[in-house]
Amino acid sequence: ALLRTQLSGDQVIVVSNREPYIHELLHGAVVVRRPASGLVTAVEPVMRACSGTWIAHGSGSADRDVVDRNDRVELPPGQHEYLLRRLWLTPEEEQGYYFGFANEGMWPLCHVAHVRPVFRESDWQYYRAVNQRFADAVVAEAREDDPVVLVQDYHFALVPAMVREKLPRATIITFWHIPWPNPESFGICPWRREILQGMLGSTILGFHTRFHCKNFIETVDRYLEARIEHEHSTIQFQGVSTLVESYPISIEWPTAAETALWRPVPECRRRVLDRLHLPADQRLAVGIDRFDYTKGILERLHAVERMLEKYPEWLGRFTLVQVAAPSRSALEEYRAFRDRITVVTDRINQRFGTGGTLPILLLAEHHEHDAVNELYRAADACLVTSLHDGMNLVCKEFVAARDDERGVLILSRFAGAARELPEALIVNPYHVEDTADALHRALTMPEAEQRERMAALRTTVREFNVYRWAGRMLADAGRWRLRERIAERV
Ligand code: G6P
Repeated sequence: ALLRTQLSGDQVIVVSNREPYIHELLHGAVVVRRPASGLVTAVEPVMRACSGTWIAHGSGSADRDVVDRNDRVELPPGQHEYLLRRLWLTPEEEQGYYFGFANEGMWPLCHVAHVRPVFRESDWQYYRAVNQRFADAVVAEAREDDPVVLVQDYHFALVPAMVREKLPRATIITFWHIPWPNPESFGICPWRREILQGMLGSTILGFHTRFHCKNFIETVDRYLEARIEHEHSTIQFQGVSTLVESYPISIEWPTAAETALWRPVPECRRRVLDRLHLPADQRLAVGIDRFDYTKGILERLHAVERMLEKYPEWLGRFTLVQVAAPSRSALEEYRAFRDRITVVTDRINQRFGTGGTLPILLLAEHHEHDAVNELYRAADACLVTSLHDGMNLVCKEFVAARDDERGVLILSRFAGAARELPEALIVNPYHVEDTADALHRALTMPEAEQRERMAALRTTVREFNVYRWAGRMLADAGRWRLRERIAERV
């Protein structure tokens, strides 16, 4: 309701690569799937609250065959709260823009994850062309000349300036869901100036943390002739002024109606242990990730191995359930990573598996939210060991799932969330010993301490939920618009 008031009749258009619902054709029937994406987790409830139009890349198989190519879908299914407008990309566009420039270039570039970014001229051409297609779609959707446009993530760095060119009065809020590196790291990108110029078409440019804002401002300072007002955190470039601010993203806190449907924690435990053929008193940790080299899955496996070496009392009594949703598997780097994880998992299981209970269960498939929630509730500990992560929402989902105030969160200091959630056990995932000790500590933590930590974490996540994330950006944008309107009159 607050979001609607803030928008007071303004038209909202979201642009993201990933769509909130994927329609797949399976054995002749259309099934709907929710993708594993922090971006979607956060933006979808905001769209439900403020209606509007969401423009995204159509990625399912069903629509292309069954429905018209440029379809419009009313979502969520059966509820019709907002409109999804899908843009279908050609295989060449998808390869060059999405797999190539976005995921082989920008993704490793911004995460500085020891995977070398790859920059190809042809990928860049597709990235530019696809950004132009999305910008044109925004302009086509706009009913007035001053819509509120929410541009999401590293797939669309050029969209803000492209939209600004056609709709100079639009309020463009760009949110960068991944880290922003330091100027030296970013400087290796051959098109660094074009990317910065594109982003500076935004009214507001949001990052998760102050640290990422600072890196961005320093990068602009290094590579562009722009006026920077450090005091107000604004950048003036070619007649546009952009506010660079931090807005830590979050999740929708579950409602009482939802939690009323959850099974009690002991029942979740029983169901999960049964399904995985584990003994009734087995201790469990969970990891829920996309199968991505930034998530620190390998380091996590090594930490489990080290814990079993160092604290042999857990042999046969502890299992890590690692869900790894397949992601970007067309890329060699991702396939190689998956193979590596499988090999290491097998090796550790051979070394430490006893009497049929394995220390690591690798579930390399997509899990829907209810199944993940059951795992969160069944677990003694949740491991989030990203090597670098903009925010990470898995840790916040785990906290939201634990209304029993039990369970221990182990969180990487290199995830944006570590700044907001200091009551977790904070670890350096590159330090295997540190993570192994944290895991042992989690498994032996007295209930009173678990409760104390979890209650504090829950207060933070409940209060700083995703509506506050969107609300703060919209409030800042509202103030900005008002200021510009007043300035126009002078
Ligand atoms: C990260 C990115 C999102 C992306 C998600 C899933 O969270 O910031 O933009 O949607 O990963 O990746 P995918 O490539 O499958 O959309």
